[in-house]
Amino acid sequence: MSTLHALYFWGDDNKIKLKMSFMQGDFAIMHTKKSGNFMRLLTGIQPSGDLHIGNYFGSIKQMVEAQKSNETFAFIANYHAQTSVNDGQRLSQLTMQTATDFLSLGIDPNKSTFWVQSDVKEVLELYWVLSSFTPMGLLERAHSYKDKTARGFATNHSLFSYPVLMAADILLFSPDIVPVGKDQIQHVEIARDIAIKFNNQYGDVLKIPEFKVEEHVATVPGTDGQKMSKSYGNTVNIFGEEKAQLKTIKKIVTENVSMEEPKEFLNCNVYNMAKLFLNENKLRELQERYKKGGEGHGHFKLYLADVMWEYFGDFREKRAYFGANQNEVREILRMGSVKAKEAAMPMIEKIRRVTGINY
Ligand code: ADP
Ligand code: TRP
Repeated sequence: MSTLHALYFWGDDNKIKLKMSFMQGDFAIMHTKKSGNFMRLLTGIQPSGDLHIGNYFGSIKQMVEAQKSNETFAFIANYHAQTSVNDGQRLSQLTMQTATDFLSLGIDPNKSTFWVQSDVKEVLELYWVLSSFTPMGLLERAHSYKDKTARGFATNHSLFSYPVLMAADILLFSPDIVPVGKDQIQHVEIARDIAIKFNNQYGDVLKIPEFKVEEHVATVPGTDGQKMSKSYGNTVNIFGEEKAQLKTIKKIVTENVSMEEPKEFLNCNVYNMAKLFLNENKLRELQERYKKGGEGHGHFKLYLADVMWEYFGDFREKRAYFGANQNEVREILRMGSVKAKEAAMPMIEKIRRVTGINY
């Protein structure tokens, strides 16, 4: 049996809002109703280097859009980054850089709960609890692990158990949806499997999450045509210097055809990147330029560099501001961690109770 408690309050935008506490047994899931929506979204990003356009279109943009009409949770996955970054100074510097980048790209701390993963340590506790509900075979089948081993990366236990920590990240906050790039779908599926196994043992405790992929931007290609990824060294970064960005764009692999010939656009890496920045009209114009011939891929690369530079113009300004005001970024993160912890505590307390850790 569940009971519903409703409470109205004034939002900071001066609009009345409905805060509901939905009681399931003795367990409360808090939802804030906004514009008729009840969706809680959660995502994490690793502070493992400069953000690239694959990160933006595959993940951050969806989150920025979503925060307008949903309850959004976004965190910097610094524990996850420890699977690949072993230099402490570098990790803390990357954490601040990623926070600065996220805020510059539109994560709004008044709309989203935005924090650094390690500031809510309960996630490690849940990670351990969930480990006992994670069959080895489930992790052995994880693409992220299989792929890295196949590529000859030295593996370790944290890389292997990474999906369990990701399951803890998700399940601690009971989101309805986890927006991800295609490569992360399997991780959310693993989180679902673990949650179902846990619930089979302890009852309806964990919320089973769904994932959401933006189909048309599911996989952003890198300069070599493979999926864009820091690990493959084929990224086009969002906040590079203009000259460096152009240099990277010039490296994009294209078909070897003469200037005069008409060109294929659907499989062209330059076109597939440019389309992320263009509206329908501009995209059609670009297609016509490909079909007509008379221009080389070098021209399309210059065009891509221009549209990309313009697209991120406002974001660069914000980044300069936050870059000069790092204390403000730290304060935003601190406040975010307080909100995140508050949201996590009912779940962790329930977990401690049902698993018998509270004695
Ligand atoms: P990288 O592969 O460069 O290390 P991450 O694994 O840190 O990138 O990815 C962070 C987020 O960005 C994830 O949600 C991921 O799905 C998304 N993402 C990364 N690369 C791409 C891509 N090429 N296309 C679409 N989304 C991507
Ligand atoms: N594994 C994700 C990535 O590499 C980052 C991440 C960690 C995450 N925890 C998460 C994403 C929870 C979504 C939800 O991109």
